[in-house]
Amino acid sequence: MKVVRSKRELRAALDERRSGSVGLVPTMGFFHKGHLSLMRRARSECDTVVVSSFVNPTQFRPGEDYESYPRDEQRDIELARATGVDLFFAPPVDEMYASDHCTTVRVRGGLTEVLCGDPHRRGPEHFDGVTTVVAKLLNIVQPQRAYFGQKDAQQALVVRRMVRDLDFPVEVVVCPTVREADGLAMSSRNVYLSPDERQRATALSRALEAARRAAANGVVTPAEVLAVARGELAAAGVEPEYLELRSLEDLRPVESLERPALLAVAARIGRARLIDNVTLGGAEL
Ligand code: PAF
Repeated sequence: MKVVRSKRELRAALDERRSGSVGLVPTMGFFHKGHLSLMRRARSECDTVVVSSFVNPTQFRPGEDYESYPRDEQRDIELARATGVDLFFAPPVDEMYASDHCTTVRVRGGLTEVLCGDPHRRGPEHFDGVTTVVAKLLNIVQPQRAYFGQKDAQQALVVRRMVRDLDFPVEVVVCPTVREADGLAMSSRNVYLSPDERQRATALSRALEAARRAAANGVVTPAEVLAVARGELAAAGVEPEYLELRSLEDLRPVESLERPALLAVAARIGRARLIDNVTLGGAEL
């Protein structure tokens, strides 16, 4: 595995291996099993696997955890190497953003203004940061496939819409959320949790799973399904930032569960802002 820091080095390394397909796994580093599952999937489907590791400043709001976001590059390099990654692209900030960078890729259409993009939460600008850096990474790497985790379902839908609207010649592959044995969705931010908070955090996946089961067993209205989830959260003393059922296609609120739906939750537990989701009715992202 080669570690590269500049776009020029990356392109040269890709040019050397230009035959065959290229898969990109964009990450912000501090790998957990979720990241590794994306890399394994890419390894099984592509001739060359590129992992980018870049804590992207433009997707953090002032006051969010950009500075303190967990980082351990040496460990990440070892894990990526052991997972069979070919190129590890870890650029410094000034390699990705010129000092006079002034271009933003903005997806709207109701996809980025809701859930995490609500102006009272991370705001749609969070997704502007994501789409801008993902667009840049797709242009730099020019992969045939790019891999994202379902845990960030809204991000995956937003990236997919950008790819469709701007005709990026890439397939967006969304892979299942990887969970701890007790259901907690893997996240780099789980390291912020104290043992007590870590225990309380399991309420998120419990709530989603209870709601999913209720829907599968004939609970039919969105309000009833949400009440089941809300009950689990309340029992653990967790007040969600949001708990919403939305269309899996365009993130509009759903009035019935006859169409594919996403049940998504966010909650602050101690210092950590955690998100999780499930799809209802056996639908896939
Ligand atoms: O999901 C992430 O880690 C980031 O949002 C991404 C896609 C790497 C863009 O910075």
